[in-house]
Amino acid sequence: MRNILVSVAWPYANADIHVGNLTGAYLPADIFARYQRLCGNRVLMVSGSDAHGTPITVRADAEGKTAAAVYEHYHQRFIDLFVQLGISYDLFTSTHTENHFAVSQLMFARLREHGYLYAETQQQWYSPAEKRFLPDRYVEGTCYLCGYDSARGDQCDKCGQLLEATQLIDPHSKTGNRALELRSTEHQFLDLAKLSPLVAAFLASGKEHWRANVIKPVLHTVNVDGLHGRAITRDLDWGIPVPLPNWDGKCLYVWFEAVIGYLSASIEWAHNNGTPTAWHDWWYAPDARTYYFIGKDNIPFHALIWPAQLAGTGRLYDSDPPAQLNLPYDVPANEFMNLAGQKISGSRNWAVWGLDVAQRYGADAVRYYLTVNMPETKDSDWAWPEFVQRNNDELVATWGNLANRVLSFAHKQFGGCVPEPGALQAADTALLAAIDAGFASVGALLDAVKLRAALQEAMRLAGEVNRYLDQQAPWFTIKTDRAGSARAVYTALRAIDSLKLLLAPFLPFSAQQLHVQLGHAGNIFGTQAVQTFAEAGSTHSALTYSAADSVGRWQPSTLAAGQALGTPAPLFRKLDDSVAAEEITRLG
Ligand code: MF3
Ligand code: ZN
Repeated sequence: MRNILVSVAWPYANADIHVGNLTGAYLPADIFARYQRLCGNRVLMVSGSDAHGTPITVRADAEGKTAAAVYEHYHQRFIDLFVQLGISYDLFTSTHTENHFAVSQLMFARLREHGYLYAETQQQWYSPAEKRFLPDRYVEGTCYLCGYDSARGDQCDKCGQLLEATQLIDPHSKTGNRALELRSTEHQFLDLAKLSPLVAAFLASGKEHWRANVIKPVLHTVNVDGLHGRAITRDLDWGIPVPLPNWDGKCLYVWFEAVIGYLSASIEWAHNNGTPTAWHDWWYAPDARTYYFIGKDNIPFHALIWPAQLAGTGRLYDSDPPAQLNLPYDVPANEFMNLAGQKISGSRNWAVWGLDVAQRYGADAVRYYLTVNMPETKDSDWAWPEFVQRNNDELVATWGNLANRVLSFAHKQFGGCVPEPGALQAADTALLAAIDAGFASVGALLDAVKLRAALQEAMRLAGEVNRYLDQQAPWFTIKTDRAGSARAVYTALRAIDSLKLLLAPFLPFSAQQLHVQLGHAGNIFGTQAVQTFAEAGSTHSALTYSAADSVGRWQPSTLAAGQALGTPAPLFRKLDDSVAAEEITRLG
């Protein structure tokens, strides 16, 4: 049994979540977490709404709302979506909690104590018209590294590099104002040059399992470009105040504090559970493994800066064990998903929205398509005709119909029970052996975070069962060889019972339905709940999960002859070809 922290990117609470966000981070994290729990490992899966920073204030300004109102609105919608899609966070909280403020300020203080922060007067873009300093995201211009003309002050979406806003070519404010001037303002800096040896040592060993698209660029940054100090405070009033005297009106930079959410959410989870030090099992135990599920635009923050923050902090509270905070074990970042060949853009409504698509087609149909198309090694594409085709030809035809056909037949011919097989023959034992081997083969791929390949392998095994049934043809042999038919139905039901589990991390809702249809009691998975937590002066809602039921089920079926089956019902819905054309007209 292993302690596994599943850290999932924190969505900015300024826009709804689309399929690209889902397949980039939230869904792969959930599949991985569900699998690890089924294996009997102790999983803690945490994330929350990223409530601060300019993405939220830009939206608030545009809508004439407060930043708090914007954050609360989207936070609720994130929770609704994650319940509908079954994204099983042990805790999905937010960065706008007292606990997160306190933990972030403490990490800041620790880094300062250890000599990893310094103050410096910085030049920053000032807008005389708006009478304020412009935070990075309010400044746009041409990337000085690659020439992309819509780079943001903090990062270039074309070349993926972190930027210094002052070096942008042709800088202008988001509103188009070009009359900007550089003015002095004092800020705290994270001394990444000083932390660089710690980061280099971290990246130098035990990263063989990291994806090439993650390790390559970060090694380049450390070894070729070098790490340089970065400002971690901003002239802003929405966020976490800098915990220093006379630093009023300045907040911690959103990227510095949002990543601390992984740690603060683990602490919050432990407190909520009445076991306040339980988070140590993931953050200090040397054999714990921490995974960070993110999109490629977040790689430098998770593979360079967050490890630097952790290494520079060492230990958080004085009462903590005599150990150092664990650094990331793996950062399985995904590339992007496009839509019909073009980059997804929420503002242009070139997007497939999570809530819409889950409501129209059901969670597992969406999860299936997002997994077969997960952008693990290169960008992928959501194409509506392919969505319909894979739903119909694979999910419905290969898997849903297989289960439904055999269960219905058992009801019609064998009194709604698993038939008595008699002595199994070579073809039967060969099929069951192939399916049982799936627990190792699918499991190894899941462990390696190769989720696409894992699902493909499970579906290949479903294909094996179809082939077996075509050969055995119990629907025909029932007339002449009832015992042979019973043996084939028994064998197929056991294979289906195993496949239900092999597919459960990907398709949790239909797996549970099938579990009941096969006559089992209880739940394959734990239970999700939305809870409200009170704080001094306010409350915040969070999504929680209790894993108890799922633990240790990753094992071949032991379905016994004579077991009464439940009522069969189709698991998935076949879609009409017209769906693709209808959906395409909704876009743009
Ligand atoms: N909200 C940011 C984004 O969506 C950061 C996500 S990960 C975090 O890109 F850990 F830093 F929050
Ligand atoms: Zn660039």
